[in-house]
Amino acid sequence: MHQRLLIIDFGSQVTQLIARRLRELNVYCEIHPFQAVTEDFLADYRPRAVILSGGPASVYAEGAPMPPTAVFELGVPVLGICYGQQVMMHMLGGLVERGDGRAEFGRAYVTPEDEELPLLEGWFATGREQVWMSHGDHVSRLAPGFRVFGTSPGAPFAITADPDRKFYAVQFHPEVHHTPNGARFYENFVREAGFAGDWTMGAYREEAIAKIRQQVGDAKVICGLSGGVDSSVAAVLIHEAIGDQLTCVFVDHGLLRQGEADEVVTMFRDNYNIPLIHADESELFLGELDGVSDPETKRKIIGRLFIDVFQKHAAEVGGAEFLAQGTLYPDVIESVSFSGGPSVTIKSHHNVGGLPEKMGLKLVEPLRELFKDEVRALGRELGLPPSFIGRHPFPGPGLAIRCPGEITRPKLEILRRADAVYIDQIRRHGLYDEIWQAFAAILPVRTVGVMGDGRTYDFALALRAVTSVDGMTADYYPFSHDFLGETATRIINEVPGVNRVTYDITSKPPGTIEWE
Ligand code: XMP
Repeated sequence: MHQRLLIIDFGSQVTQLIARRLRELNVYCEIHPFQAVTEDFLADYRPRAVILSGGPASVYAEGAPMPPTAVFELGVPVLGICYGQQVMMHMLGGLVERGDGRAEFGRAYVTPEDEELPLLEGWFATGREQVWMSHGDHVSRLAPGFRVFGTSPGAPFAITADPDRKFYAVQFHPEVHHTPNGARFYENFVREAGFAGDWTMGAYREEAIAKIRQQVGDAKVICGLSGGVDSSVAAVLIHEAIGDQLTCVFVDHGLLRQGEADEVVTMFRDNYNIPLIHADESELFLGELDGVSDPETKRKIIGRLFIDVFQKHAAEVGGAEFLAQGTLYPDVIESVSFSGGPSVTIKSHHNVGGLPEKMGLKLVEPLRELFKDEVRALGRELGLPPSFIGRHPFPGPGLAIRCPGEITRPKLEILRRADAVYIDQIRRHGLYDEIWQAFAAILPVRTVGVMGDGRTYDFALALRAVTSVDGMTADYYPFSHDFLGETATRIINEVPGVNRVTYDITSKPPGTIEWE
């Protein structure tokens, strides 16, 4: 059992970043919404330290979110951030004042008070530290035992602490990028709390394998393989745990990229000896998609067929009791919502959604505790080739959603070839790893061009490349004009059927990453 840090979530937009910072320090932590953190939960969970997140509420609002007082009786360090600071002052005998409409938002500079605090080791080397503030209410009187260790012009209680009890309460957000020395702050906090930094992928691999063996026993497991990083890492890990009790099903819906099916089959069946059913169902999918141009209808057809086909081939395995999925931690974190609606929303995995109930299968989800970059680290630990681990995400519905309008085989062929040239360009220029996702989309328009001495009337393409942390928001990638020009020339010269190339410069929001 790892030393655990508990993050109590009060609904801040950046709570996940706290977990990221801590995991980078090899500290195992979990985020739990405040409603779930009861006294019993705490007694059972036995965290080595607690962090109270920020949040949009006011401690004076009716039903303001609060942790149980037992949090302060565990005898472990507690760090309150922004709303978390206000909660600590409110509950421990200080005073919080309403913001009277004046919020402090954005960059601020904190300067130290006379006293030193281990939490601030490595801070204030230049006399002040840039931090990120985002608050309406503020603390106006400290709780007994607390003293001030840092102030900013807008926040006289920017950094406060009761060093004896190791209670720390800060007004700013150390987890965000705009607090440049924030990682050091967390490093000091976990050192003060006595964490040994025992969360490593090597250790995780051993534990996960033991857990899978215990959960599965000698039953059979099936795993839907998409060729993406998550399902691949899950499959290799489970195979290491239970060997041939695992069978993977790779459904080729005819909407894959150039060479993709071969790559996946070679890697799993030939290199790893993992039993693999390669279901070539392109006729079925492309047949049902024939003449369909509405994006939602396309997605529904693909989703339905995927389940049918998976189920059909899974039956060949005979008597599988478990379905393995590459569900990640961000998919399962329960996010707190204050604005009406259900108070707890859980995102569900959509690619094989509905299968477990329909087939009466139990789930094996060995990546449930991991963030994407940790899955990549685990993949490296398991020896997956770096080129595979670093692959850009590829959506379940594949090229169907990169072919607005009707899907035809000739259009898919043009798209595959153009996409391959585009990705080759990106790799040659050493940009692949800087980009979250890049792809070509074939547009449902033909345009007039001139090539040599002749007129052409061919398809137009859109190229897309974005940077992102999690796919939820994204910025278009700022390629140089030289790069774009060279890429357009190569595509038009090397891919018959294309005579125009455009670059999509929409961010998300308001656009989405995929075109459909
Ligand atoms: P959007 O287009 O919504 O995409 O901005 C965000 C991220 O999700 C991927 N995506 C999907 N992944 N099944 C998947 O496995 C899907 O149906 C699906 N739709 C979008 C998309 O490629 C991007 O990384």
